[in-house]
Order: sequence, then C-alpha cells, then structure tokens
Amino acid sequence: SDYRFIETEACGRVGIVWLNRPDVLNALNRTMVNEILEVFEEYDRNDDIRVIFLAGKGRAFAAGADIDEMAEDDSVSMELLNQFADWDRLSLVKKPIIGAVHGFCLGGGFELALVCDLLFAADDAKFAFPEINLAVMPGAGGTQRLTKLIGKTKALEWIWGGDMHPAEEAHELGIVNRLYPKADLIEEALGYAKELAEKPPLAVRLIKEAVNKAVDYPLQEGMFFERKNFYLLFSSEDQKEGMKAFIEKRKPDFKGR
Ligand code: HXC
Repeated sequence: SDYRFIETEACGRVGIVWLNRPDVLNALNRTMVNEILEVFEEYDRNDDIRVIFLAGKGRAFAAGADIDEMAEDDSVSMELLNQFADWDRLSLVKKPIIGAVHGFCLGGGFELALVCDLLFAADDAKFAFPEINLAVMPGAGGTQRLTKLIGKTKALEWIWGGDMHPAEEAHELGIVNRLYPKADLIEEALGYAKELAEKPPLAVRLIKEAVNKAVDYPLQEGMFFERKNFYLLFSSEDQKEGMKAFIEKRKPDFKGR
C-alpha cells in the first residue's frame, strides 16, 4: 500500500489495518492517524468490506501519541492544526471496528483502542494513560470514553495514576471483551470479525449507532432513536429476506440492502 505508517489488507469481507511503526512501538504521529482515518473511511464506503479490524505489528498495539512530534507544540499551533478533527471522524465510521490489542496500549494508543467497538486482548496487553507523567492529560477522548466505560472513580484512579493495568483488569472492568493467549489473539479476533461480517450488515450498523446513542442520550431520546432505526430496517430487502427465510425454513441470503 501507499501508506507510510500502516499496512492494509482485506481478509474476505474484513478490512484489516495494521499499525506499522514497530521501531517506536507504533507511536502515533499525526500522519499515521490521518492514514488510519483514510483507510477506515474507504472501508466504510467499500461494499466488499463489512467489518474493520485494527491491530498492531511488532511488540505493542501502540505506546501512545508520538512524544517527539508534540514536545515543542504550543496551544496556538495545536488549535490551528486542529488534529482532533481526524479523531472525531474516526467515531463517525458506521461499520463495526474490532480492535485486537497486545503489548502496550498507552495514551493515544489506548484512546484509539477505545474508538473500537469491541476489544479483544492478548494476555500480555498493558493499558495506561501515562500522560500525567509528562504533565499533560489525554486529549483524544480518554477522560470521556474511559469514564463512560468504567465510571468516574475508577477512571480518575487510572488517569491520575498513569500506571499500567494488566489485561485481566481491563477485562474485568469491561474495557476488553475477551482475552486470549498471545499466540491466538489475531486468529481468534479475526475469526470473530469474519462471523460478524456474515450478519445482515444494515442491522449490524444500525445497532452500533443505536447502542452508541445509549451512551450519550437520556433514555427516552435513546428509545425514540432506536425506534427510528428499527422502522428503517423494515425498508430493507434483507428484512424481507430474513423473515421469509425463517418462514420457509431455509438459510437467509443477506445482501446488505
Ligand atoms: C515516541 C516512543 C513512544 C512514544 C515509545 N517510543 N513510546 N517514541 N512516542 N509515545 C520509542 C522509544 O523512545 C524507543 O525509541 C522505542 O520506542 C522503544 O521504546 P523503549 O522505551 O526503548 O521500550 P521499553 O523500555 O520496553 O519501554 C516501553 C514503554 C516506553 C514503557 C512503552 O517506551 C514508554 O514509556 N513510552 C512512552 C509512553 C507514553 O508516555 N505514552 C503516552 C504519550 S502522550 P528509541 O529510538 O530510543 O529506540 C499521549 C497523548 C495523547 O499519548 C494525546 C492525543 C493524541
């Protein structure tokens, strides 16, 4: 591919993105985040891809934002750069994003993991927000997404502490869906992604959208939102096919329309 810091590969209907800057433990520079966004958006539009898969090459998922790149930044240069517009667009991707994490998952790397819809982790994965040790704080959603996931007091403990938390703890707290021995992670997580890619894609995406609303909306607003998506699925060919196949006692053939 033409990318400098990532590698891409399609595996059936799963579009894979490999973070590929192993010399610096996949530290995320801005070009790299932009490359990830570009591929995610391409996969999101591509009819042949139904699920997006993100993992890291080398010994880590990602050890954070590139410290060398930001060391000399100032407030005004960052305001003008507006790098987080790319991060905002990552969360507008409609197809499911499955993350597979091993080794270090730190700072901006952890924030990127939290953009994923589901996380699978190797038993060697280590999670932290070490920004505090650099006298800064998470800037790409860490204080918001981690708090919504694990609650205020745990989030404060993690983000003030800056210390590493093992995969088992992240699993117990619900940050990680499933844990695997390191050697099995990619095969298992990719296997899950392939199964998800067989499900009716319109339902899959509208479920993602509705569940995400539950995180942000008051209950009744979320209920209204869910209902609209529920009604919307009844305009799809797949809904007719799914219900007809059930009645005819055969396997449905979903087209994503
Ligand atoms: C730039 C990094 C890096 C980073 C590692 N490297 N993390 N370079 N930015 N975030 C580089 C190291 O400098 C080193 O380069 C090489 O990767 C290997 O790392 P080592 O430190 O030699 O490995 P090890 O001793 O195993 O220690 C691993 C580590 C440590 C504990 C993960 O590298 C570390 O503490 N990294 C920084 C983690 C961090 O603070 N992340 C948060 C960043 S702030 P050389 O050239 O020496 O071989 C952030 C804010 C996000 O993410 C804001 C929104 C985007």
